[in-house]
Amino acid sequence: MSIWKRKPMTLLLAEASESEKGLKRTLTAWSLVALGIGAIIGAGLFVRTATAAAQNAGPSVTIGFIVAAVGCALAGLCYAELSSSIPIAGSAYTYTYATMGEFLAWIIGWDLILEYAVGAATVGIAWSEYLNNLLVNVLHVSPIPYEYCHSPFQTSLDGVNGIINLPALFIVAVISLLLIKGTQESAFVNGIIVVVKVAIVVMIIVFGWSFIDDANHTPYIPEPGIFTDEHGVGHSYGGILGILGAAGTVFFAFIGFDAVSTAAQETKNPKRDMPIGILGSLAICTVLYILFAHVLTGLEDVEFFRTGGKEASVANAIASAMPGYEWLGQFVTVAILAGFSSVILVMLLGQSRVFYSMGKDGLLPKAFSDVHPKFKTPYKANLVILVIVGLFAAFVPGDIVGDMTSIGTLFAFILVCISVIVLRKTEPDMKREFKTPFVPLVPILGIVVCLAMIYGLGWTNWLRLIGWLAIGFVVYFGYSKKNSRLNNPKE
Ligand code: ALA
Repeated sequence: MSIWKRKPMTLLLAEASESEKGLKRTLTAWSLVALGIGAIIGAGLFVRTATAAAQNAGPSVTIGFIVAAVGCALAGLCYAELSSSIPIAGSAYTYTYATMGEFLAWIIGWDLILEYAVGAATVGIAWSEYLNNLLVNVLHVSPIPYEYCHSPFQTSLDGVNGIINLPALFIVAVISLLLIKGTQESAFVNGIIVVVKVAIVVMIIVFGWSFIDDANHTPYIPEPGIFTDEHGVGHSYGGILGILGAAGTVFFAFIGFDAVSTAAQETKNPKRDMPIGILGSLAICTVLYILFAHVLTGLEDVEFFRTGGKEASVANAIASAMPGYEWLGQFVTVAILAGFSSVILVMLLGQSRVFYSMGKDGLLPKAFSDVHPKFKTPYKANLVILVIVGLFAAFVPGDIVGDMTSIGTLFAFILVCISVIVLRKTEPDMKREFKTPFVPLVPILGIVVCLAMIYGLGWTNWLRLIGWLAIGFVVYFGYSKKNSRLNNPKE
């Protein structure tokens, strides 16, 4: 029994072709690009951009977006090679199992909970912020009382303590139930939302451009210093470190293009469609983000995003800096509520597929891989995820879950880059429909850029990642190692 045992590639591919017995193959290249954009544009852009400007980089958050995009493109090329040659549900978890053995696969599977489940909670919390904006500025009714839409770790400017974030919990529950009903229907709804979401981003760039106040962009890169947030945590502000911190924060906005790879087992022609899905959605979003961040930081100054404009930042900035465009602020609010929903959907989908694979491998209880007889979805996994995500959404502040998502995903990206290098050595003859160019240079650069962003996120987040992985070790040695199907073939 070895914790380093690798899942044989032949077994993986056999499982992939057996998939008619499990998940349905319904997704095409276009639905993958849509799935990617559906996952990508969300709270990262509409909430974390302002946070990164306020806490880390001011207007130079745009440079942070460029750093994050470079890291994602490098890791994306690695994802594309792996997902086009190992077309099976489970994403980075599955690749790592085949390349670096069970223990590292467990680490990555556990770590992906940060990306997908904690990420879904982050977007649920953003949904809650914009819901209040909808109530007040669109429907002109009273907002949900502060204590019922904030975590116990938050206090309002006038001293009210949060208790529970009920709207965040609500949206997570609704989407979990939608997912249990089936991926095909969900992808259709997602397609409509994607079009609306891209439209509002373009409208904000086009209409907002003439309202940019150059004073808000001066200096473009603030002097280096420290900004202390309301939880008493210091962040590097300004200079290169500020840009790296901003990159780590807005990196959240790119998370999701890799979720496409978790749907490989449900893709009609994964070898051709996965690279298109991953890289296509990433390219479109990168251009939009840089322009969007340039406009947003030009509308208002950093102080605004630290105080009154902290929540529902984009709608608030439009309301305050773009007179005559109230309609745009209202439209953005309505559209982004739908937009956030599609992000939550893809993240919960990704999470359930990872749990499905881990359940099949015996690293989690078998129930996680049980497929619903009628809907053909891993419904038990979805229900467990609902509980986990619901707890984070209801009781943890958005900034904290947001940064935990970023650091967890960056760590996953690093392992994916390493997997490409290892797999080229251990399985040189494996058929690769898409090959990462310039191996090992591209994966190594991917690792370096992701490490730089992890560095920028600061020591509180390093500790959170280490703490999360430590809990994962306890679960692995307490349960998964003993129940692994690979290590206990007779069971
Ligand atoms: N990229 C996704 C978002 O920004 C996770 O919400």
